[in-house]
Amino acid sequence: MTTAIAHSNIALAKYWGKRPGLGNYPAVPSLSMTLGGMTTRTRVVLREDLHAHALVLNSVLESGEPLERVSRFLEDLRRESGATSFAWVESDNDFPTASGLASSASGFAALALAASAAYGLDTDPKTVSHRARRGSASAARSLFGGFVELAAGPLAPTGEEFLGAVQVAPEDHADLSLLVCVVSEEKKKIGSTSGMGTTAAISPYYAAWLEEAPRLFRKARSALLAHDFTTLGTITEASALAMHASAMAAGVFYFKPITLTLFERVRELRSDGLPAYATADAGPHVKVLVPSASAAQVGAALREVPGVLHVRCMQPGPGARLIVDDEAHEPGPIVPGNHA
Ligand code: PMV
Repeated sequence: MTTAIAHSNIALAKYWGKRPGLGNYPAVPSLSMTLGGMTTRTRVVLREDLHAHALVLNSVLESGEPLERVSRFLEDLRRESGATSFAWVESDNDFPTASGLASSASGFAALALAASAAYGLDTDPKTVSHRARRGSASAARSLFGGFVELAAGPLAPTGEEFLGAVQVAPEDHADLSLLVCVVSEEKKKIGSTSGMGTTAAISPYYAAWLEEAPRLFRKARSALLAHDFTTLGTITEASALAMHASAMAAGVFYFKPITLTLFERVRELRSDGLPAYATADAGPHVKVLVPSASAAQVGAALREVPGVLHVRCMQPGPGARLIVDDEAHEPGPIVPGNHA
């Protein structure tokens, strides 16, 4: 049995849209912060007695699309290793799954690392990041700690081109916090792959996004390296708004009324002199970037907004890693089927 843990990451300069072609390559570069919490822990056991891969997600035996996605991912690793055994995978998140809190990022990062080790493949972070990207592009970034970039893929990928994420700056580079405002425990209705597909197919603003995103990425990256928080925050908010505007123009909505309320609240806090900038992913939650010195004050203001379930304060955290799983292995209650 091999066990890996990985944390979620939140993009400051967003990835939205895939290169047409094979292999799940992003159409734009992205820059993220790996979180010190919001953790996935994944155990992989290779079993001679299985005739297919199996996935137990948060104690529920999966079937349907979640299992198919993970099985496709594991088949690449099984083929690469030349092994015959299928994998039994148990994965647990300490935060809501598939609701726009980047559970696919931590999930595929932990899975890529645990399964690479189980299949006896190379486990250096760059190679595992390349593998994780095939499952979920944002997952490539969770292999590394601190601040991480993932370049855009080649124009017409064949699936064979190497593309993993790279660390831009370590955890202690900047004393920043991300206030994760959870507004719902529901699963999102539109997965990011399908949302990106619809945006690319019909949004009149997708071309504008493809042009703007690399500029936003470059500005965010240099602001981060120059410790220019105001520019970094401004670009973080602009990137989220441009991404969502292009998606919304295709009818792909992740915002709920509370999402807008929180963006508005963050603007008010800024006009009151508090440095805070909002971002949102493929779900209704809002994440607010602040210098750590202002986290308590901004967090208290956000907790008071009606509709906010809770606010978790995250600092930059480490990349995915293998751990010694010394917990007695007692699989939790397994409820077949009702999760697909
Ligand atoms: O990697 P995916 O398929 O989960 O897509 C992630 C997309 C966003 O979270 C919205 C942006 C990002 O760069 O993480």
